[in-house]
Amino acid sequence: MQPKQTIVHLPVYQPGKPIEAVKRELGLKEVIKLASNENPFGCSPKVKEAIEAELSSISLYPDGGSVELTGVIAEHLGVETNQLVFGAGSDEVILMIARAFLVPGDETIMATHTFPQYKHNAEIEGAVCIEVPLKDGTHDLPAMLSKVTERTKIVWICNPNNPTGTINSHQETADFLAGVPANVLVILDEAYCEYDLSGQYPKSLELLEKHKNVVLLRTFSKIYGLASLRIGYGVGHPEVIRSINQVREPFNTSRFAQAAALVAIQDQEFIDFCRKANASGLQYMKEQFARLGLQSFPAHGNFVMVDVQRPAELVFDALLRKGIIVRGGHQLGFPTYLRVTIGSSEQNEKFITALEQVLADTAVQA
Ligand SMILES: Cc1ncc(COP(=O)(O)O)c(C=O)c1O
Repeated sequence: MQPKQTIVHLPVYQPGKPIEAVKRELGLKEVIKLASNENPFGCSPKVKEAIEAELSSISLYPDGGSVELTGVIAEHLGVETNQLVFGAGSDEVILMIARAFLVPGDETIMATHTFPQYKHNAEIEGAVCIEVPLKDGTHDLPAMLSKVTERTKIVWICNPNNPTGTINSHQETADFLAGVPANVLVILDEAYCEYDLSGQYPKSLELLEKHKNVVLLRTFSKIYGLASLRIGYGVGHPEVIRSINQVREPFNTSRFAQAAALVAIQDQEFIDFCRKANASGLQYMKEQFARLGLQSFPAHGNFVMVDVQRPAELVFDALLRKGIIVRGGHQLGFPTYLRVTIGSSEQNEKFITALEQVLADTAVQA
């Protein structure tokens, strides 16, 4: 048996350790996971009811076209219903875009380091990935623009960027789009957009009106707190969305995911609460990092990347033994950094206490 040549070098995705496994292996009673940028406040309380109402229909396929949800989100965003496509998480929308648009030999441009699924899916399709280094942890849009050739099919921009949390402003993004040829698709992955309070964030729906080659990616996994249900979506020009829909599996989002997303988007009070709590958590982390003499990238999502000035693996392991799971930068291209999700204030305080102890235990010799 011979798998596709384009996949033989790909690693199998290694998920972070689940809380239960860490508890068992390390004999810990309490474990805090600040590793996957999940919402520490759960999801809207209305979601539970919506899921319960669907239980009697488990044996029936979901609405493949997510018609009701499409209508509600279209109204929420002020776009037409034929501008939306839903996926099992925005992960699946990334997969479908790569499947619909990339053929072997096409070029596709992305930052390094950024969310790995762009490269992963592009490589499966046999595309050539052109990686452009971040500048101060931020997408270097002029450098990315300079890499566009007549073979370029897709440019991926992660805003805020995972793992650094930085953003590109409206003006930077608008200037970039003005220079990109109309036949090159530009994906603006906005998985964390709802958290930004800087006033600098791109008005991406306006950019989409001006540029037919833009697709926005949004998700219900982050501020909406529905990560386990797997639902996200793309917003784009009807022709682009049609192409993505042509490769979509018939029933790719579940009945539960659709029902939950429908009520979650309408409970903006919960979203406001999460946004504010996240902002004060970020502020707390910033102050604590300053107190500990640590630098971090300007954070615009629900996570922050901090330079612990030691091998990240060491600090990651020591925190794990104290019952705190974070992401070690050694796995993300930042060997002395940790990426930490903003938790509840109690979780944030426990993380800082543990970090301070670990840093003292692993003091860097001058
Ligand atoms: C930047 C970015 N895009 C997309 C995703 C995928 O999210 P989901 O598939 O849960 O919608 C993530 C998840 O961490 C992410 O960080």
